Amino acid sequence: MVEKTNKGLILVIDDEESIRDGCRQTLEKSGYDVVTAENGEEGVRIAREIQPDVAFVDLKMPSICGIEIIDVLSKDISDIVLIVITGYASIVSAVDSMKRGAYDYLPKPFTPDQLRAVAMRGFDHRNLKIETRKLREEKEQMEKNFITFVSHEMRSPLLIVEQYLEALRTVAGGCLDKDANDIIERCNKRIHGLKDLVEHWLDISHIESGIFTPEKKPVDIPGIIMRSVEDMTPLYHIRELSMETDISEDIPEVTGDEESLVRVLANIMGNAAKYTPSGGKVSIRARHDEYYVSISISDTGTGIPKEKLPFIFEPFYRVKGKEEKQRGSGLGLNFCKKIMEAHGGKIEVTSQVGEGTTFVLELPK
Ligand SMILES: Nc1ncnc2c1ncn2[C@@H]1O[C@H](COP(=O)(O)OP(=O)(O)OP(=O)(O)O)[C@@H](O)[C@H]1O
Ligand SMILES: [Mg+2]
Repeated sequence: MVEKTNKGLILVIDDEESIRDGCRQTLEKSGYDVVTAENGEEGVRIAREIQPDVAFVDLKMPSICGIEIIDVLSKDISDIVLIVITGYASIVSAVDSMKRGAYDYLPKPFTPDQLRAVAMRGFDHRNLKIETRKLREEKEQMEKNFITFVSHEMRSPLLIVEQYLEALRTVAGGCLDKDANDIIERCNKRIHGLKDLVEHWLDISHIESGIFTPEKKPVDIPGIIMRSVEDMTPLYHIRELSMETDISEDIPEVTGDEESLVRVLANIMGNAAKYTPSGGKVSIRARHDEYYVSISISDTGTGIPKEKLPFIFEPFYRVKGKEEKQRGSGLGLNFCKKIMEAHGGKIEVTSQVGEGTTFVLELPK
C-alpha cells in the first residue's frame, strides 16, 4: 500500500514505458507520490487498491480503452480527478471522455511544465470537489437535524396541547360559560393553524432534502378529483360556495403519488374556498392533450394583483389585502409546486383582481 504524502498520490496508466517514466520523474520531482500501470486492467486494479487522488489515463491502449477506465474509476473512486492523455490529436475523444467524467486532457507530446501545470490544476479541482461534497453533506445533515427538531420539538407538543384542549372541552366544557368556551375555541384554531404550518414545513423539508420521493403508481385523475370534491363539500357548504366539475370522459391515468396529488388539490381547492366570498363559485375542469393531463381550478374570488403573482409560490409569501382575514402560513402553494415538479409537471396561475383566479396543474401522460 502506498502512503499518501501531503502533496498527493498520482496514478499514471499508459502502455508506453517512456511516458510512464517521464511522468514519474517529473511528478516525483514536484513532490507527488507516483504509481504507474502499463495497461487498463492493471490500472483499474491498482487504482482500487491505492485510491489515488489524481489519475492520468492514456486514451489509446490495447484491450480496455481509456474511456472505459474513465467510466469505472469515476464510479468507483470517490473524489478522484481523471486526466486523459490523448496520443492522437483527437479532440473528439478527449471531449467524449470529459463528458464521461474526466476533468482535463493532456495531448502528447507534452513538456514537463505542461504536465506539472495540468497536475496542479487537477489537485486544485480535487480540493474544490471535496469541499463541495463536504458542504453538501453538512447541508444534508442540517436539513435532517432540522426535520427531527421540528417534528419532535414542535409537532409533538402541539399534538399534545390539542389533545388537552379537547379533553378540557369534554370534561369541563359544560361547566364553563360562553366566554371561556370561546377562549378554548380560539386556542384550538391557533393550534390548528400552527399544526398546519408545521406539517407543510415538514413536507417541504422532506421534498427538499430528498427524503420524500413520490410513489410512481397509476393515478386515476377523475377519481382523485371526485375524492377531493367530496372532502371539500362540507367546507364549501359552510362558506356558501358552489362547486362545478367538468371532467373529460377519456382522461388517461398518470404515473404518480396519489396521496400527495390529493393534497395538492386540497390546497388549491382550500385556497379557492378561503379567498372567495360567499355566494361565489369554484369550477374544476380536467382535460388532456397529446402530452399532458391538465386540471384547472377557477374561482370567482378576490383575485391576486398581477405584480404579486410571481411570488405566490415562494415559501411564506402571502398577499396582504386590506380586508385580509384569512389565516395561513404561506407554505401551501410552495408545497404544491414542489409536488408538481417532483412529478415532472407544473402549476400555473392566472388571476384578475375582483374577478377570480385560475390555477392549472399539468401532469405528463
Ligand atoms: N385562489 C386564490 N385567490 C386569491 N388569492 C390566493 C388564492 N390562492 C392563493 N392566494 C394567495 O396566495 C398566497 C399564498 O397561498 P398559499 O396557499 O401558499 O398560502 P396560504 O393559503 O396563505 O397559507 P397555507 O399555507 O395555510 O395554505 C395566499 O396567502 C393568498 O394571498
Ligand atoms: Mg393555502
